[in-house]
Amino acid sequence: MDERTQTAQPKAAGQAATDLLFQPYKLGPFNLPHRAAMAPLTRSRAQQPGNVPGPLAACYYAQRASAALIVSEATQVSMQGQGYAWTPGIHSREQVEGWRRVTEAVHEAGGLIFNQLWHVGRISHPALQPDQMLPVAPSAITPQGQAFIENERGEGQLVPFVRPRALQTEEMPYIVGQYQRAAKNAQTANFDGVEIHGANGYLIDQFINSKTNQRTDLYGGPVENRARLLFEIAEALSPIWGPDRVGVRLSPLGAFNDVGDDDPETTFGYIAEKLSDYKFAYLHIVNPALPAMQAGQEPDARALRMVDLIRKKYRGTLMIAGGFDRDSAEDWLKKGRADLIAFGRKFLANPDLPQRLRSRAPLNADDPTTYYGGGAKGYTDYPTLAQDRGEQPKACVDGRWR
Ligand SMILES: Cc1cc2nc3c(=O)[nH]c(=O)nc-3n(C[C@H](O)[C@H](O)[C@H](O)COP(=O)(O)O)c2cc1C
Repeated sequence: MDERTQTAQPKAAGQAATDLLFQPYKLGPFNLPHRAAMAPLTRSRAQQPGNVPGPLAACYYAQRASAALIVSEATQVSMQGQGYAWTPGIHSREQVEGWRRVTEAVHEAGGLIFNQLWHVGRISHPALQPDQMLPVAPSAITPQGQAFIENERGEGQLVPFVRPRALQTEEMPYIVGQYQRAAKNAQTANFDGVEIHGANGYLIDQFINSKTNQRTDLYGGPVENRARLLFEIAEALSPIWGPDRVGVRLSPLGAFNDVGDDDPETTFGYIAEKLSDYKFAYLHIVNPALPAMQAGQEPDARALRMVDLIRKKYRGTLMIAGGFDRDSAEDWLKKGRADLIAFGRKFLANPDLPQRLRSRAPLNADDPTTYYGGGAKGYTDYPTLAQDRGEQPKACVDGRWR
């Protein structure tokens, strides 16, 4: 060993030991060993018929159990809440059983997993709805873009969105009830907690953003009304799980799925402040600086101001996802912008991501052609460092998970 490697090695190890990313974190009742979480990732591989998470999903999540916390892929709370072919639900007995095998596998591997509860609202299509009904939304405004459905030949197909039906005020308790039942089902499935999916232009976000909400009842108009659905769901889920096992995901400044807000600072500032009162496990935001950081640019000033605003208004654990690598994650933690960093695509492609980050090992590149649908390829076959060194992959779909 020459002099350079002798000095370099202890330095690298010493650095990981002091990096905030690798410091433990107390998250409600959980002692997280570090601060690199796995972001929710839709993978569209639920078993058919019935949108049931199968043994491969158990394998996939167990492989990633070294995350500080796994947030599961978005999971529809009801048939009405589904917006894409082959995504899993948590409203039928078979789905709950399927998820139970997933959580068991994750727990056996030493991990923690929250279930992301999802209602897509207008980001759906009659082909995915019970009785081919229209998707529901705050207002009857057709989104730009296409829905992903299964055609008569059993293949995935993109089709234009349709004009959704505006929910009646009287239906709102029924929507909250869907989340309530799903949250109870998530308990039966032995999840460690739930994350309310209030981000990315789905139903809750459609209510929050002024562009998609033109209602004149108690759920439209001022932000107090537009955020009402989110808070009603928060109220309903808190006693089921206990607040410290509930998280909320938001995407301030987000435009995905054709949403937008006239005054996002006021809207998301209000929501972040009010959410603090619930003493939830965490608030999880999609990084508003994601587009810039992804392009390798400096985050734009408005995005950073939004992150600072949320940090100031939200008095609790803040998790951020979007565009992070090891160095930017560490930088943001050091600057106090967040307490936890969630990694999406890097976790998708690197089952042992925390270990790779800690040792500054190279990362597998993610393959976008296998994000959605299919089987093991691009799902459970990304190699670990141990496999890179020649170890055989662990047999993961065994008799118990089948
Ligand atoms: C394939 C894929 C599926 C995703 N599915 C979800 C999802 O189910 N729920 C969600 O809130 N975000 C979802 N996202 C967004 C991610 O959670 C994350 O915010 C985004 O990938 C940015 O983080 P990254 O740069 O670390 O990948 C998805 C992203 C990708 C690439």
